[in-house]
Amino acid sequence: ATVQHLKWEIKYEYRSPDCFKKLSITVNGLSPGPTITATQGDTLIIQVTNSLITENTAIHWHGIRQRGTPWSDGTQGITQCPILPGETFTYQFVVDRAGTYMYHAHYEMQRSAGLHGLIRVLVPEGTVEPFSYDEERSIVVNDWWHKSAIEQSTGLLSLNFSWVGEPQSLLINGRGPFVLTMVPGKTYRLRIASLASLSALNLEIEGHDMIIVEADGHYVDPVIVKNLNIYSGETYSIIVKADQDPSRNYWIGLNVISRKPGTPTGTSILNYYPISPFKVPPTLPPTGPLWNDTLYRFNQTKLIKSHPDHIEPPPPTSNRVIILLNTQNKVNGYIRWCVNNVSLNLPTTPYLIAIKEKLRHVFSQKPALETYKYKNYDIHSVLKNPNATLGNSIHRLEFNSTVDLILQNANALSSNISETHPWHLHGHDFWVLGYGLGKFDPQIDPKNYNLVDPIQKNTVPLHPYGWTALRFQADNPGVWSFHCHLEAHFFIGMGVVLEEGVERLGKLPKSIMGCGQSKSLVRT
Ligand code: C2O
Ligand code: CU
Repeated sequence: ATVQHLKWEIKYEYRSPDCFKKLSITVNGLSPGPTITATQGDTLIIQVTNSLITENTAIHWHGIRQRGTPWSDGTQGITQCPILPGETFTYQFVVDRAGTYMYHAHYEMQRSAGLHGLIRVLVPEGTVEPFSYDEERSIVVNDWWHKSAIEQSTGLLSLNFSWVGEPQSLLINGRGPFVLTMVPGKTYRLRIASLASLSALNLEIEGHDMIIVEADGHYVDPVIVKNLNIYSGETYSIIVKADQDPSRNYWIGLNVISRKPGTPTGTSILNYYPISPFKVPPTLPPTGPLWNDTLYRFNQTKLIKSHPDHIEPPPPTSNRVIILLNTQNKVNGYIRWCVNNVSLNLPTTPYLIAIKEKLRHVFSQKPALETYKYKNYDIHSVLKNPNATLGNSIHRLEFNSTVDLILQNANALSSNISETHPWHLHGHDFWVLGYGLGKFDPQIDPKNYNLVDPIQKNTVPLHPYGWTALRFQADNPGVWSFHCHLEAHFFIGMGVVLEEGVERLGKLPKSIMGCGQSKSLVRT
């Protein structure tokens, strides 16, 4: 294993990814930022200098579990104080499992300004993966607004609520029209990460099947699909063979699913070498599945199982079951997203510091609610009383215990609307025990859990009016967020915080301190 030193400068620069000139956040001049390539077991030391001038920042390494380094998770308000303009913060962690991951800003809505990129962790030399290919390519997909992240976030926090709206464009590797070149006859591994802020996306390569082989760093029992539904925070590797008519190019279509599209299809080109990349395919770009075909998406998520040779079975039972009802509510007239009727409002002193340094008064010591009154709750109708509260309570888990997280979807504030929420867990991978449509029944549904070959992931969709059941081992000392990965949802409260084993950690680095009540700790 080697140690890689990276020096990053974060700043605003004008970019025109879809021909509209806008301030984007760049990493060393790039948006998406540079792809990090490491080998399993490597240590990454990333020195981040904030040159945003008027904004704080923090960067999260999404999918990297940060075992033993919870202070490098990059979640502002949870594991660290923000990095102030002009300051440099050093993240140091080990990439302990091969796979495809990502990084992105975890401060306000900066992710949607383009501060994001891909992390490739390669298998150690001599290790054989359960699939083969000639070459590989990386693909970052995201949605793009012409309004700045500041305008978006300000609108969301206004009493006169101003929704971000549908994105203006869909981008591949930061480009409207991107060109992916392949040599006819060769087989490719495409590593795909969705850094979308809002949209669930469908990626289709005209005339080419895709074989899904990896999801969130875990090998998948290979499945062939015509197109791939990918939710914000998810990564996949797919195998694509350049086996079609070599005399032409093909469309790569990126489409919004699960929300009524107000965005044109993202059209990129699959270019068959040596044809000119400018030769337009003689066909129409793929339009993807029907945007409101929930069953189509539900069925594709259910296809993803662990590769038979790489199964790490989940514990057969759990010590604790936490049911999390997802609703859209109002708090003092403001629109907020809630979990069990509470909208997360991060304290000014990050939880990790508060807990380790026993600054108990900086957040509520009342445990967060672990269920909702499901007996008579109708998930299909609009709440009669949409009022909820802000809160900063957390779930404190017994170290090494096994925990089930059950996500329950419901109707939003308008009738006949239930959104898709991609939930992401920091610090762990969970087993995906099951998905269902309708209301989760704690007596019956667990009987049908997949305990045989569930996939392990760090991000999963919660489908409209559905539920998703997850299990994980609370074996990583730290404070970890579990939240909806839609930027505009987490920003207005859609998340919870979990703590385990903080008392086992050694001294916290002073570099994460300095805000809120942790000011006094850095002065001493
Ligand atoms: Cu990729 Cu907390 O998120
Ligand atoms: Cu959401």
